Amino acid sequence: MTQWWRDAVFYQVYVRSFRDSDGDGVGDLRGIIDGLDYVQSLGVDALWISPCFTSPQVDHGYDVADYRDIDPLFGSLADMDDLVAQAHRRGIRITLDFVPNHTSDRHRWFQQAVAAGRGSAERERYLFRDGRGERGELPPNNWMSVFGGHSWTRVPEPEGAPDGPAQWYYHLFAAEQPDLNWRNPEVVAEFEDVIRFWLDRGVDGFRIDVSDALMKDPDFPDTDGGWPVIPKHPDGEVHEVYRRFRKVFDSYLGDRMAVIETGADDETVAGFIRPDEMHLAFNFRFVKAGFDAGHLREAIDSSLAANARVGAPTTWVTDNHDTPRSVGRYSQGTQLLGSYVPATTAAADFDEARGLQRARAMALLLLALPGAVYIYNGQELGLPNVDDLPESALQDPVWEKSGRTNRGRDNCRIPMPWTAAGPSFGFSTAAQTWLPMPADWGRFAVSAQEGEPSSMLELYRSALRMRRLLPALGRANVEWVDSPEAVLRLRLNSDGEAVEVLLNTSPAPVPLPAGRVLLASADVSAGSLPSDASAWVQVAQ
Ligand code: BGC
Ligand code: MG
Repeated sequence: MTQWWRDAVFYQVYVRSFRDSDGDGVGDLRGIIDGLDYVQSLGVDALWISPCFTSPQVDHGYDVADYRDIDPLFGSLADMDDLVAQAHRRGIRITLDFVPNHTSDRHRWFQQAVAAGRGSAERERYLFRDGRGERGELPPNNWMSVFGGHSWTRVPEPEGAPDGPAQWYYHLFAAEQPDLNWRNPEVVAEFEDVIRFWLDRGVDGFRIDVSDALMKDPDFPDTDGGWPVIPKHPDGEVHEVYRRFRKVFDSYLGDRMAVIETGADDETVAGFIRPDEMHLAFNFRFVKAGFDAGHLREAIDSSLAANARVGAPTTWVTDNHDTPRSVGRYSQGTQLLGSYVPATTAAADFDEARGLQRARAMALLLLALPGAVYIYNGQELGLPNVDDLPESALQDPVWEKSGRTNRGRDNCRIPMPWTAAGPSFGFSTAAQTWLPMPADWGRFAVSAQEGEPSSMLELYRSALRMRRLLPALGRANVEWVDSPEAVLRLRLNSDGEAVEVLLNTSPAPVPLPAGRVLLASADVSAGSLPSDASAWVQVAQ
């Protein structure tokens, strides 16, 4: 088995914002096909395509009404088949988003559950409970939704239903995203079949949304602060689900895989990527570490150690569609605390030049560490966070569901600029895009950076090219070399070759080791590594 995914570089395509082919201002599958030459020029191995299945789009596709079809907004099944074929012809693999925790409230199953009434087999596919109070007029417990507000919604009983207290259904996210009952074998079987449906069409794998939260404490106890109780035992029932899924993956040729999304601690995360469960897990500890040598080093050591115990590789990631863009975060250097639905960074505190320098420096760290890498579309262009969208433009359900206290995640989901000029900078033929693009967005366009040696895009291209050529990069064990506290210095040895990676988070330049500089995020011609910069140096073994 080749296990290509162990050191693969994945490029996350947020479909709405990558490229629009039909002029409706929303990115789509044919847009991704049009962008494949670009993707290939980056030198990545695979795409992760955010949800494009039939959906009312309440949470931008994370509310799926039909898992076996493509939403007309994004194209058709034929377009997906074409995308898979054209990507494969270029040697690029395709992974899709898989959303098992909840369906849309428009999913056939949920509509049947509401219509069938209390005590029915249809309701057993979801988490319906009797309300509290005399006639069930109060929610079953005090758990809160991740998006803000209550996590229970009451349903009317159909006519002729047996008498009893009112029933409510549980939703970890929005009310339009009812949670499934993963203790019901019918649910497990249905999703095994959905996995087969896509693997049969040639898809190489999945990213599994909210992977760790499938099982809730069935007693639904009240909790302090209203946090839901999600059992975390390493031998818990949720792991049985992934063992079942793994058997489906392994029954296919071609080394199919899945990456787990869970924000849990490193040990818990590692529990999901044991040899008979899933393959990779996002390293959220690294996402949150901030531009801080100490936090980064802790995140690297702890995730490598936890994963080594289960024989799984680690992933390296700084950006995704739920997190303010790292250019914005690193401009302050702070850690990202809390969940993946954070408050935005204040636009006034943003120092673009510093954020960009640091994001460049982090790119070389990401791409050198051993394991898989996830790059979020636009990260390779150094797109900043857009924190000043007018309230009238906000689309993320978090804004309304939080009672307009959290502006949500639109700040990192702005469409990509392809050309320095033109309506919507080549993203679409339309000038109006689903989220407005800043007037100066052309500065970051692909065409403005292409062939420009000092650009973020060319830094990514050079780093990815070198990573393919040198076995030490992305594959060798990490050995720390003594260095000042604010400097990360690590050595990667492979096949008679050694590369040192240095990242300087201190305010002053530091000396570079003797050797040949392969690549640097900033000017190192003076022989030292400036503040907020990184370098790859080939050294004697
Ligand atoms: C996805 C979010 C989504 C949530 C609910 C997350 O982990 O990445 O974008 O809102 O799951 O499906
Ligand atoms: Mg479109």
